[in-house]
Amino acid sequence: MIVIISYIIFQLFLIILLLLIFLELFQDFVLGKVPYIPTPIKIIEELLHKINVSPKIVYDLGAGDARFLIAFKRKFPSTKVIGFENSLLPYLYGKIKILYYNLDIKLLHKNFFKQNISQADLIFCFLGPEQMKRLEKKFDEELKKDAIIISNTFTIPHWHIKEKYILGTNKSAWNKIYIYQK
Ligand SMILES: C[S@@+](CC[C@H](N)C(=O)[O-])C[C@H]1O[C@@H](n2cnc3c(N)ncnc32)[C@H](O)[C@@H]1O
Repeated sequence: MIVIISYIIFQLFLIILLLLIFLELFQDFVLGKVPYIPTPIKIIEELLHKINVSPKIVYDLGAGDARFLIAFKRKFPSTKVIGFENSLLPYLYGKIKILYYNLDIKLLHKNFFKQNISQADLIFCFLGPEQMKRLEKKFDEELKKDAIIISNTFTIPHWHIKEKYILGTNKSAWNKIYIYQK
């Protein structure tokens, strides 16, 4: 009897997991949402090694599994780091990673377009052209003067690029980093 019940629970778990994955993919590809493509860890490490910053508050807009925030917090423990992620699976995975590393990181299951970002000293993002267009307006309106924006791969349409890095090896994916300062 116990074996049958365990089997049914396992099957239900699998069905729910598949449904969640289907819903995520449906949102990404049918509704044109930015898919969850993580920045390679090596690129993040190289980036953090290169930049010379000392922000008090860092935001990751579309934080995925929180890998940038985790790497940042481990390197700069006194910085307050906050991420927004609206897809359930990367968000849950990020929460598990934060628990595992036992770090004081806020990862919120929220749409960053609906959040006020005026407290951020540094923003990291890896999104898409449409989101960058919308974010430009939000940055113009909300972001404090001198705030730094680090964007993987996608530029802010009308802002002046302060620094640009191509990281990793020739074959690295998602390795163009644009840095801006308001
Ligand atoms: C390309 S991934 C990058 C993830 C992470 N920042 C990294 O570099 O590894 C973009 C993430 O942004 C999330 N995202 C896109 N639009 C969002 C929004 N409006 N609010 C919150 N998260 C969003 C997606 O769900 C996806 O996980």
